[in-house]
Amino acid sequence: MDKIEIIGGTPLEGRIPIAGAKNACLALMPAAILSDKPLTLMNAPRLSDIQTMGNLLESLGVEVKSLQSGQVITLSAHGPLKHLADYDIVRKMRASILVLGPLLARQGQAVVSQPGGCAIGARPIDLHLYALERLGADWELKGGYVHVTAKDGLKGGVIEFPTVSVGATENAVMAATLAIGTTEIRNAAKEPEISDLAVCLGRMGAVIEGAGTDVIRIRGVTELGGATHPVIPDRIEMGTYMLAAAMTGGNVELAGAKRELVEAFAAKLEEAGAVIEDDGKSLRVRVNPGGLSAVNVVTEPYPGFPTDLQAQMMAALAIADGTSILDEQIFENRFMHVPELTRMGADINTRSGTATVKGVRKLKGAQVMATDLRASVSLVLAGLAAEGTTTVSRVYHLDRGYEQIEKKLSSCGAKIRRIGS
Ligand code: UD1
Repeated sequence: MDKIEIIGGTPLEGRIPIAGAKNACLALMPAAILSDKPLTLMNAPRLSDIQTMGNLLESLGVEVKSLQSGQVITLSAHGPLKHLADYDIVRKMRASILVLGPLLARQGQAVVSQPGGCAIGARPIDLHLYALERLGADWELKGGYVHVTAKDGLKGGVIEFPTVSVGATENAVMAATLAIGTTEIRNAAKEPEISDLAVCLGRMGAVIEGAGTDVIRIRGVTELGGATHPVIPDRIEMGTYMLAAAMTGGNVELAGAKRELVEAFAAKLEEAGAVIEDDGKSLRVRVNPGGLSAVNVVTEPYPGFPTDLQAQMMAALAIADGTSILDEQIFENRFMHVPELTRMGADINTRSGTATVKGVRKLKGAQVMATDLRASVSLVLAGLAAEGTTTVSRVYHLDRGYEQIEKKLSSCGAKIRRIGS
């Protein structure tokens, strides 16, 4: 298995282009199932998770064409479709569950392997099933698969989520586009990826209002058409490289970055001592001469501080002046990066969902292991700021969510390279 080797201590200087958002693209791709006309996605990120979703859709009978080395993806569900999402693909990526709503809406049935537990907690699918039930579907679990049917088609209804779920909101929105009548989703997730999905579905002919707020209304239509849609920039990639600039005492321009997508995070980073300049087309990030200072962080659904930047923020606070408290409110068990950061000299104590981080002057390079996508990139950030050499193993986690990470960082002067196994 590949490893990443980093020799730390170089302030990053330069320009990093921000890719299309992985999580937006993972919801947009299954939307193609809703129509027999092609959906073309521009600005798609070149990531293994996107390939996995492409493979899943192909296994369902969707024609998937990738152009411009993967930045343009055309998906066409014109032929006969299957309705079984197999365990072998679903187990690799939880976002596979996003085919459930579209398959059900288009074909009246779907059989999707249960995603199972994953490294950052139990991650059940009860909210997805609840939403589909509210639209008239029945489901049962058999042999590790969830069988969902809507014999008489889906019917609009009121879906009131007890807790906010990004994926369940996406499945509900997609399913409701072809349901008979109007659907109202209450306590909907407000993430920019939901708004992007609604814009794309609107281009395909869906009638949706309120996306980006906590009440979304969808008036079902009988069919959807084709569309061409550019994927929004990846706010988590953005935040990660903003931290890389701040942690190394560098000065980096993030081309295509949009502050409004990361406002809560950007405000925290400024509170910690970063300087962020916004010219409308890009963000430029550096740190005040005094370096970073401790701040307290609570992860929350959007527009709050994103859980997907918690691990990276912790790496930064590990070298900030003072003691920070990080409260993880979205996922239990999302502190797997802590023992690895501790191996690099960080002083972090965790108690249930709270981490207390006492900043140290310097981290020291070490051999560390990635456990999930965001945890692994937090170790890369720590390695960039540390003294000496850090080797991060299990790099396949990084390839799931960070396009050309070594190339982007080395173009700013980082001493980083991939070592093949
Ligand atoms: C999405 C993102 C992920 C991000 C997360 C929270 C994608 C592909 N992934 O994941 O990167 O970390 O949002 O911002 O977009 N829950 C249930 N029952 C369910 C579904 C969720 O209890 O049926 C719980 C989860 O365990 C978690 C919380 O709800 O505690 C939020 O999860 P959710 O918003 O659904 O995350 P995902 O859509 O899986």
